[in-house]
Amino acid sequence: MTLALLVDCDTGIDDAFALTYLALREDVEMAGVVSTGGNVPAAVVHRNNLVLTELLGIDAPVALGADRPLVEPPMFADDTHGPGGLGHAVLPEPTRAEDPRSGAQLWVDLARERPGELVGLVLGPHTNLALALAIEPELPRLLRRLHVMGGAIHHRGNTGPTSEWNIAVDPEAAQRVLAAFASAPRLPVLGALQATESVHVHGEVLERVEQLAGTSGNPVARILADALRFYFEFHESDGFGWSAHVHDPLVAAHAVTGDFASTRPLAVDVELTGTLTRGQTVGDELGRWGREPTVDLLTHVQADAFVEHLLSTLEAGLR
Ligand code: BDR
Ligand code: CA
Repeated sequence: MTLALLVDCDTGIDDAFALTYLALREDVEMAGVVSTGGNVPAAVVHRNNLVLTELLGIDAPVALGADRPLVEPPMFADDTHGPGGLGHAVLPEPTRAEDPRSGAQLWVDLARERPGELVGLVLGPHTNLALALAIEPELPRLLRRLHVMGGAIHHRGNTGPTSEWNIAVDPEAAQRVLAAFASAPRLPVLGALQATESVHVHGEVLERVEQLAGTSGNPVARILADALRFYFEFHESDGFGWSAHVHDPLVAAHAVTGDFASTRPLAVDVELTGTLTRGQTVGDELGRWGREPTVDLLTHVQADAFVEHLLSTLEAGLR
């Protein structure tokens, strides 16, 4: 059965791997892409998404999201992803058209057109999904389900000491999304840092992607290799050695296959007011809040199996 996906992302090096993986899966129909500001400004994300969807032959609407988070000024991670969002990659100019709708409106329109069918996948800040909920509060019941990369549960942050990037950029949006989707017929699946950082890839993975770029001559493989090399350089400068945490593709692959991780239900909320901990995702393990679970949390990641699955999908599809 084909899975219809709306992908909301801040492309971004690992977002680009996720988009490519999804484009190469025959069981995925890319129904839409929303460009959300995060790793780089929304307009730069949008350009990356237009170029990648064009090169990958994804014939789906690509809509530009809001240019700032709901409350705070935007922040960017060009140290991590490069000023263009894709590390050392040099992109051609896009020639395909963008969708004229806002990112939020695309969420709403696609969900209304395909009630109970569309799966949402958020790989960046939650700004545009939160804006979409303001237009259509029934989204949690219109979507088939929601998968999110975000948060750090009982794990250090990667942005603030306790906050993960996708939540830290727009904590209010993340809080609204989690609160709204807690009442969805199926709990949202949350891939937080303690799961996604177990996909910690080393030199042999970069070498395989470099080799694919060299032997295939495929422009997307070239972009991925040049982007991943930059990601390694950043992680090395951040104290992680010659390696990278490749977050988003794991959440994408689990959304499609249901494989490579388990899940467990947990009540999770977002800290909005902490003077040291704003943007932290707090998980209530002992039920002290007396609330029902709000997410299915990814656990027990089969990292080696996933990395091999990702690489073999890229090698089969981009040669
Ligand atoms: C998340 O932040 C972004 O930099 C990555 O693309 C990923 O979605 C990891 O914290
Ligand atoms: Ca991302």
